[in-house]
Amino acid sequence: MSPAHKPRIAVVFGGRSSEHAVSCATAASVLAVIDRDRYDVVPIGISHDGKWVLESAEPARLQLTAGHLPAVDGAAAAVVVSNDPARHAITVAEPGATPPELGAVDVVFPLLHGPWGEDGTIQGLFEIGGIRYVGSGVLASAVGMDKHYMKIVFAAAGLPITPYAVVKPREWEDDRGAVREAVAALGYPVFVKPARGGSSLGITKVYDVDGLDDAVEHARGYDPKVLVEPSAEGSREIECGVLQRLDGDADASKVAEITGYGEHEFYDFDAKYLGEEGVTLQVPADIPDELAEEIQRLALLAFEAIGCEGLARVDFFVGHDGAPVINEINTMPGFTPSSMFPRMWAESGVSYPELVDRLITLASERPTGLR
Ligand SMILES: Nc1ncnc2c1ncn2[C@@H]1O[C@H](COP(=O)(O)OP(=O)(O)O)[C@@H](O)[C@H]1O
Ligand SMILES: [Mg+2]
Repeated sequence: MSPAHKPRIAVVFGGRSSEHAVSCATAASVLAVIDRDRYDVVPIGISHDGKWVLESAEPARLQLTAGHLPAVDGAAAAVVVSNDPARHAITVAEPGATPPELGAVDVVFPLLHGPWGEDGTIQGLFEIGGIRYVGSGVLASAVGMDKHYMKIVFAAAGLPITPYAVVKPREWEDDRGAVREAVAALGYPVFVKPARGGSSLGITKVYDVDGLDDAVEHARGYDPKVLVEPSAEGSREIECGVLQRLDGDADASKVAEITGYGEHEFYDFDAKYLGEEGVTLQVPADIPDELAEEIQRLALLAFEAIGCEGLARVDFFVGHDGAPVINEINTMPGFTPSSMFPRMWAESGVSYPELVDRLITLASERPTGLR
């Protein structure tokens, strides 16, 4: 990138996963703060059915509120995205428009959650084109998205995880008795979740075998691969942000706690996003320093274990014994200013606009190709 050239950033959002609306809400916030003096911004939406369209940078329309799930306008004309290997850039063009070219994009900010966005698939597309993008690469994104493989890699790295059983389609269809036995061995109550889900969609807490079939079918509506875990009853839910520095090392943020679910049984979709009364987040968490430091240490190890880049949020349960276990890692965590990740960083001295800027700078400076 020559110094005279104002970098053009494609903010990509929406996407084909069930977290489309959450991604739009995130994009609304990022589009509102991105420094237009430093960057040209091209907002690109991916509709529910996978069409790439040029979106207006009108953050208000994209807000997520009770009763309004924002979405990319799938009826808009598709843009043409092609790669320019000589410049490590992609070119975005409106078909038939004069001039047709919206410009060569230097860095892509994929603000996408869930499959086909946070799981390495779109990252693979950018890798093929030699295009710089924000966040984790193909492998870290894929492992972070799939709670089954995430646990395998974390366990291999010596990190504490919750026990689990995997229910693959063939097992569910051919040997339900074996699945019931495996789940009973974990001990009820259990949490049943889609392996590659997010935003708590498709998750059910199940108290006995009678509720198992419906919960598995519900999760299978999101992913044919389902995970079952014993409920971490009475545990505290603590989260920690990880952010890379420009020198490549990563820092852990202050940790935060989800201290109340309001009317909800657990931290489900409505509790997460609808700003309901009684749902309380405490930043920083009111826990002993030693525990906070241990959580930060584990968060950095988790980031390293799957080979993350840029950012991640690592979520923990802390039980009565005071020992943290990792629930999951998110390679593209919720990213509105009221989301945990930006709030934890604000508390740690990195403001929301600085966070956005840091991620774009990291992406624009990192080499393309195998790293
Ligand atoms: N094993 C568990 N024990 C207790 N609560 C759980 C368990 N698994 C999930 N939950 C609850 O469900 C929420 C969402 O689960 P999580 O695994 O983080 O999925 P997602 O990727 O959708 O966020 C958690 O924040 C927590 O409140
Ligand atoms: Mg979660």
